[in-house]
Amino acid sequence: MCPSSESVLPQGIPTIRVVAMPTDTNPAGDVFGGWIMSQMDLAAGTTAAFRANGRCATVAINSLVFLEPVVVGDEVSIYTNITRTGRTSLHIHVQTWRRARHTHITSKVTEGEFIFVALDEKRKPRPLPPAQPGDELPAPPCQQDA
Ligand SMILES: CC(C)(COP(=O)(O)OP(=O)(O)OC[C@H]1O[C@@H](n2cnc3c(N)ncnc32)[C@H](O)[C@@H]1OP(=O)(O)O)[C@@H](O)C(=O)NCCC(=O)NCCS
Repeated sequence: MCPSSESVLPQGIPTIRVVAMPTDTNPAGDVFGGWIMSQMDLAAGTTAAFRANGRCATVAINSLVFLEPVVVGDEVSIYTNITRTGRTSLHIHVQTWRRARHTHITSKVTEGEFIFVALDEKRKPRPLPPAQPGDELPAPPCQQDA
């Protein structure tokens, strides 16, 4: 069984993993916060579309904190977790973790709550389909077992 300390392990389903590149930096040379936000939005959107079984749009970002800088070469992993659903909306908790290239060292660098709305073909809010077992992105084995 995997250890499950909230303080030391990512929370949520691994949704996106990417390497930060020189083109993703700000003028100071660290990775641009807007790039990280876009990765978080992409990951949350993937989870929203999967649960909603169709098109979704970001309607709000309720909170977002940057805890540590990300540097070029870091492996950036985004984890998502649906914390609440309404009639048409989904609240998705998103965490970003970095792993310094060539090391095993990982740390949480951002955390936030993204809200999505399921949309119909006319871009109007659409009721979410009923929740079904297995309608969230698959968790890795250790999280399923925890
Ligand atoms: C998403 C959009 C269609 C919602 O339209 P709307 O008229 O606000 O719709 P509603 O008032 O019926 O709200 C729909 C749901 O969103 C929720 N919502 C709307 N604004 C919200 C906000 N600021 N914060 C949290 N939830 C919000 C409502 O509570 C409701 O949830 P529920 O159905 O689960 O109860 C519209 O705001 C829009 O098109 N926004 C632009 C989206 C966009 O371009 N995003 C960036 C690219 S993806």
